[in-house]
Amino acid sequence: MQLGDLQLLQSLLAENRWSSVFILTDENTNQLCLSSLMMCIDFPINPEILEVEPGENSKSVEISHQLWWALNDLGADRKSLLINLGGGMITDLGGFIASTFQRGIDFIQIPTTLLAMTDAAIGGKTGINLGQLKNQIGTFQNPVAVILDQAWLETLPSREIRSGFAEIIKHGIIADQTLLEACFNTDVSNQEEVFQLLEPSMKVKANIIEIDPFEQNERTFLNFGHTSGHALESLTLQDEDPLLHGECVAWGMMIATLLSIDCGGLKAEKANDLIRSIDSYYPDIQPEVEIEKLWEVMLRDKKNSKGKVNFVLLSDVSKPMNNVEISFEQFNKACANLQAMREEL
Ligand SMILES: NC(=O)c1ccc[n+]([C@@H]2O[C@H](COP(=O)([O-])OP(=O)(O)OC[C@H]3O[C@@H](n4cnc5c(N)ncnc54)[C@H](O)[C@@H]3O)[C@@H](O)[C@H]2O)c1
Ligand SMILES: [Zn+2]
Repeated sequence: MQLGDLQLLQSLLAENRWSSVFILTDENTNQLCLSSLMMCIDFPINPEILEVEPGENSKSVEISHQLWWALNDLGADRKSLLINLGGGMITDLGGFIASTFQRGIDFIQIPTTLLAMTDAAIGGKTGINLGQLKNQIGTFQNPVAVILDQAWLETLPSREIRSGFAEIIKHGIIADQTLLEACFNTDVSNQEEVFQLLEPSMKVKANIIEIDPFEQNERTFLNFGHTSGHALESLTLQDEDPLLHGECVAWGMMIATLLSIDCGGLKAEKANDLIRSIDSYYPDIQPEVEIEKLWEVMLRDKKNSKGKVNFVLLSDVSKPMNNVEISFEQFNKACANLQAMREEL
């Protein structure tokens, strides 16, 4: 997989190795990003544009079915290229479509949200949801290239930038103290400052994936904050104004940090500092769902059994640990303690 800017895309296209080119967008990236891509890039073959509705609901079996048919009806073959222009929803969905259509065609990711740039578009995981179950169906498949461009952030709502920022914080927490400090000195409304964090952040993910591409061990560290974060995200998916992925992860990281004091050996002082810093970016993110419901969703995950849920915790900053079994009582207590602590901040 190559990482580069729009120039890399231009030179890859100039090699003329594809029989046809498709661009997958959602309605927003179609309106806000596509024309500038078309202006910057000289396509040797006119690309066909595929569009889905924005939002997590498009990462579905039904939409996949429609997209496979669209590719088929538009004459895609094994030498076609799919360019995914969008956030993590599009890079996950498009990656999945490309990696399954005719047993796999080439695809290029052009992430247009911060979250997709730092996380979703890299690492080779593609996927769709099965009903409310997140990423239940998917593949491991690397794109030909990931194309980065800061300009996409200009139109991205500040709430989306803050959501992606949570994954950068996560990379700092699990593997890079310098990045973590830089995060907590970053004004998240300053795109330039935020974009500067991308390189070290992506490096953390890339390093981990190189050691463990298929999530046998170290790659699980990237799930820090995601065990309870995913459950919260699943439960709010159908709300009128659902919480964003990174917002849920931010809350999940605070819970995991608190659990790490008793169950991971993280010093209370460090945990409190970390929670205070995370909270300063996400003071409004509180789960408005019953803790029992969150627990039920977490238990449904196939990795969890016998009434316990496996968490990634910390023994220290940059020292994550896998598969720490947590009981409902411990989780419930951490949720209550976190709420009490945040009320005092
Ligand atoms: N594969 C992985 O390893 C991985 C990792 C993390 C997250 N994910 C997945 O990523 C998804 C979340 O990604 P996301 O947060 O990027 O969500 P998203 O793709 O839904 O994008 C968020 C919103 O921003 C809009 N948008 C995108 N680019 C824009 C731009 N430049 N300007 C204005 N609006 C823009 C989209 O239309 C959408 O409304 C989830 O489905 C999650 O499961 C996957
Ligand atoms: Zn995530």
